[in-house]
Amino acid sequence: METDATKYIWFNGKMIPWADATVHVTAHALHYGSAVFEGIRAYATNKGPQIFRLKEHIDRLFNSAKIYRFPLAVTKDDVMDACKKIITENGLEYGYIRPLIFMGEVGLGVKFKKGKNADAMVCALPWGAYLGEEGLKKGIKVCVSSWRRLAPDTIPTEAKAAGNYLSSILIANECTNNGYAEAIALDSNGYISEGSGENVFLVKDNVIYTAPDTAGLLPGITRDAVIKIAQDMGIKVVTQPLPREFVYLADEMFFTGTAAEITPIASVDGIDVGPGYRGPITEKLQNAFFALVKGDAEDKYGWLTPCK
Ligand SMILES: Cc1ncc(COP(=O)(O)O)c(C=O)c1O
Repeated sequence: METDATKYIWFNGKMIPWADATVHVTAHALHYGSAVFEGIRAYATNKGPQIFRLKEHIDRLFNSAKIYRFPLAVTKDDVMDACKKIITENGLEYGYIRPLIFMGEVGLGVKFKKGKNADAMVCALPWGAYLGEEGLKKGIKVCVSSWRRLAPDTIPTEAKAAGNYLSSILIANECTNNGYAEAIALDSNGYISEGSGENVFLVKDNVIYTAPDTAGLLPGITRDAVIKIAQDMGIKVVTQPLPREFVYLADEMFFTGTAAEITPIASVDGIDVGPGYRGPITEKLQNAFFALVKGDAEDKYGWLTPCK
């Protein structure tokens, strides 16, 4: 059993023991990548564990399923309820929640068969900082990947689908093998897209820049949160196509994502970003973000959902 295994997994409406939540080797998703999923965080707060932007994540999950025309037997309410229960019934104070909707034992034909619904599961893992606690403070070393993100007329990146992560695997493994913590991929037009599992921001002359949804990226829920927080601080945020050289000239850079939260970028391709460590705007955004998600600041956007 995995070391971070929890007691229960929610599978098609039932809470069952972790070890019993298995699928058949002919599962469609295993062969063709036909699964859509979410990554959601529950934070420990003084009101107990609370889930960050649960509704937005479940909306995105069902949008991903809609794009692929998955036949569904579960509702948004079922999955939202499962996300809360997976935390409480496993006795977790915080955790990373993974809902997955996938085509299971529906036959090996690529086309979906009439009358065969997708399966659904929700599990949770007690995960901390994805790119390391140290990375959150000092920043990480990244490179520009030799792999491009998916072209818009190939596989839709607006859907968070399992198959998209073959691109992420190429990007993440290449950069790790070359000694970097993460990579930034370009889109099919050569503009900055995103990391293997994060959106990317850069700061130049006190203005924050990020790539548009059309740049082969997943429009992140943390990206949206950071844009709102920054604008409320009076910082200008510009969403525009970003040429590669912007990353070498930025004053500050950071990644955002459910797993990465807000992780500063210290250097790109061996060139320091600004002074080569976390910049003041990144730190200000991190402080506001962590105060909110940990319940230390007022939840003025209504982004937290209690698990009980
Ligand atoms: C490819 C990719 N881009 C961006 C993100 C960031 O999205 P979010 O902030 O919604 O987690 C993720 C993480 O889910 C991702 O996998």
